[in-house]
Amino acid sequence: MTNVLVIGSTGQIGSELTMKLRREIPGSTVVAGYIPGAEPKGELLESGPAEIADVRDAKALADIVSKYKIDTIYNLAALLSAVAERKPLLAWDIQMNGLLNILEVAREKGVAVFTPSSIGSFGPETPHQGTPQDTIQRPRSMYGVTKVATELLSDYYFHKYGVDTRSVRFPGLISYTTLPGGGTTDYAVEVYYSAVKGEEFVCPIAPGTFMDMMYMPDALKAAVDLMQADPSRLKHRNSFNIASMSFEPEQLFAKIREYVPGLRVRYEVDPVRQAIATSWPDSMDDSCAREEWGWKPSYTLDQMTQDMLLHLREKLL
Ligand code: SER
Repeated sequence: MTNVLVIGSTGQIGSELTMKLRREIPGSTVVAGYIPGAEPKGELLESGPAEIADVRDAKALADIVSKYKIDTIYNLAALLSAVAERKPLLAWDIQMNGLLNILEVAREKGVAVFTPSSIGSFGPETPHQGTPQDTIQRPRSMYGVTKVATELLSDYYFHKYGVDTRSVRFPGLISYTTLPGGGTTDYAVEVYYSAVKGEEFVCPIAPGTFMDMMYMPDALKAAVDLMQADPSRLKHRNSFNIASMSFEPEQLFAKIREYVPGLRVRYEVDPVRQAIATSWPDSMDDSCAREEWGWKPSYTLDQMTQDMLLHLREKLL
């Protein structure tokens, strides 16, 4: 992994992953791919090259891969679960036609590809506690349908053409740099903003709804470590369960109140997000990732909460 294209570099994951790769991979060129309207700014723009990289434009992707001799693509373009329910055709276009364009370029030019999957790739019939690596998926959201198809298509390109595709199933990701855009797990990010601003938080997810969550530094570590893992150890590829913490809204709010006792919360449950959340695992079993490439998260809910509050106070106050 030397010359890397991050597609979706201004999104929640991409904005941090691009900077981490630029900092940590010596001699690398990390191209920040973006779409018009979501241009990179500040440090992201100034610290390396940036190119328009719309996954639906196969020629543009091929040109960037040739120009920078790209050997690895992080494909982070996606509509998250709640938005994808409102715009299912656009979600399919970006997540599936876009992926096909990337995999074709990768096949022709020998590029490795990371495309995240998600807890959203599971569905109501999936065992919800200790969700195994290999189990029933059958999601009912468009986001989930595209994520299962992403896993299958990525494995297809690996088995048929030898394209080095690898992936993790991300839990809900919590971070302070860039907000997520329209996911079911977003509440667990937004409540920290409300806590720091002293505003009442309106929670769209019902109490008692458990979902896997993860702090962004652990998610970034997973994305980098998996792409650097010894391929001979990988029995799975698309996609690995990774887990770090699981909680329901009341547990999260209780933890935040240890540091911000005045946090005020009101529930206004969104039926679309709630149906999605209920269908997702409560907690995944990530033993395959631990065995095959040494996955191990660092942050607990308490450590994450302290770090989130510290950085959001710096950012917002
Ligand atoms: N965080 C995502 C969502 O809620 C799940 O991968 O859509």
